[in-house]
Amino acid sequence: MTTHNNKLFIETVGCQMNMLDSELVVAALRQQGYELTEAIADADTVLFNTCSVREHAEHKIYSALGRLKFSKRARPQQVIGVLGCMAQKDQELVFQKAPHVDIVVGTGQLAEIPRLIDEARVSRQRAVAVSLNRREGTRTEVSGSFQSYDPLREPAMRPSPYQAFVRIMFGCDKFCTYCVVPMTRGPEQSRNPTDILKECRVLVDQGVKEVTLLGQTVNSFRFVEDGRTWRLSDLLAAISEIDGLLRLKFVTNYPRDMTDDLLQAVRDLPKCAQYLHVPAQSGCDEMLKRMKRGYTIAQYRDMMARIQTTLPNAAVSSDFIVGFCGETDAAHQLSLDLIREFRFKNSFIFKYSPRPGTKAFDMMPDDIPEEVKRQRNQEMLELQNAISEEDNAAFIGRTVEVLVEGMSKTAEKRGETDATAGPVQLMGRSMCDRIIVFPGNPRLAGTLVDVQIADCTPTTLMGEIVTREYQHGASMLLPILA
Ligand code: 5AD
Ligand code: SF4
Repeated sequence: MTTHNNKLFIETVGCQMNMLDSELVVAALRQQGYELTEAIADADTVLFNTCSVREHAEHKIYSALGRLKFSKRARPQQVIGVLGCMAQKDQELVFQKAPHVDIVVGTGQLAEIPRLIDEARVSRQRAVAVSLNRREGTRTEVSGSFQSYDPLREPAMRPSPYQAFVRIMFGCDKFCTYCVVPMTRGPEQSRNPTDILKECRVLVDQGVKEVTLLGQTVNSFRFVEDGRTWRLSDLLAAISEIDGLLRLKFVTNYPRDMTDDLLQAVRDLPKCAQYLHVPAQSGCDEMLKRMKRGYTIAQYRDMMARIQTTLPNAAVSSDFIVGFCGETDAAHQLSLDLIREFRFKNSFIFKYSPRPGTKAFDMMPDDIPEEVKRQRNQEMLELQNAISEEDNAAFIGRTVEVLVEGMSKTAEKRGETDATAGPVQLMGRSMCDRIIVFPGNPRLAGTLVDVQIADCTPTTLMGEIVTREYQHGASMLLPILA
């Protein structure tokens, strides 16, 4: 057998769930002696953790795979793996499109990656490890074929020492007609609260200050144990008790499951971020019906009214799809009206991308020309940006509490480090998830500081740290700057 190097290259696209999966896969492989590299040309193990939500994300991966077509000439010992949503969706098709791929591993088989890599390297045989398709068995069988993958966490393996994602659910049963996720991540399953709490405690012991709970429809969380039903609100209350944890967030919410107990928990638990991501997708009832979202605009409006009553200071963000099948100009205008009405903190806006395997792909023609999708996307983005900037401007002069995450992207690009003389540009987030940049000492990462806001853009607030009383102590002052 040819010897191989221990260099691992991994590219991750897609959502936070994918980022978490990659972190866990990398952790498992590092335990086996692998080392991460950013140079794909040096790596004998190359992995792509993929996304299928839009065609563009798949194209990106197939192009990257295309560039590796001849890489095994120089590195016959190389193993190339395609992981995640596209692996589950395309299965053997990946080999047709990219014959040099060795392993295809679905979202429900990530635990098997170390073994699959070893076997592929020795046997030089291709392997596919995927879950059952949703119509291939009973619900229990299909659910069982999507194995939970949440091994215990290791501090050195996390991208940030202060922040961590924790999966509380996997899969989705909502079957929105445009969406491939119920196929790629399987049936909705909530994790056992005992395991979730244990994972959160381990993370906080390791220095994590902010936990973000993940689920495709995170507020649909439900787990029955010893006759007790756990909802997301119960879980938030239990996790909040962990000493040393400063902030708790959760994404993504499903509008219909935005119950009062959850809103009250966010109001009453001081560690819960006052931030709710509740995608509307469209402002038009006809579109929502075609999307099979399960609510009307009147119901979404009721939900927003309940949010505003219970959490008057909370920030709400949304997702929108423009150019969905049959979307008229009038329907698009209704989406813009919804943004004007609710003034979302921000919205993620996507051009509709037909996905094989979804109901919309089979039943509804993708009849909105690309150019119209592009224009609607642009128009919506401009509107949302104007609103975000106006609302951010209202913060100028105010002081907000910021959890410092580390150096800003600009500071990182400039190559500033801990050792850089003088303050560097730091970034963090407010309780309502607004991004704040300010000069400071990088050692403040992981602490709470008060920042007085002086300026803004649509996405960012800029300011200066003001001295504050230390949170848990009597009157210890945090250093403003070193
Ligand atoms: N085309 C475009 N956007 C999509 N999304 C999901 N499926 C599609 C699709 N086929 C968007 C939705 C969802 C976000 C994660 O991605 O807005 O909330
Ligand atoms: Fe996709 Fe709808 Fe499930 Fe969200 S709720 S993951 S959009 S099917």
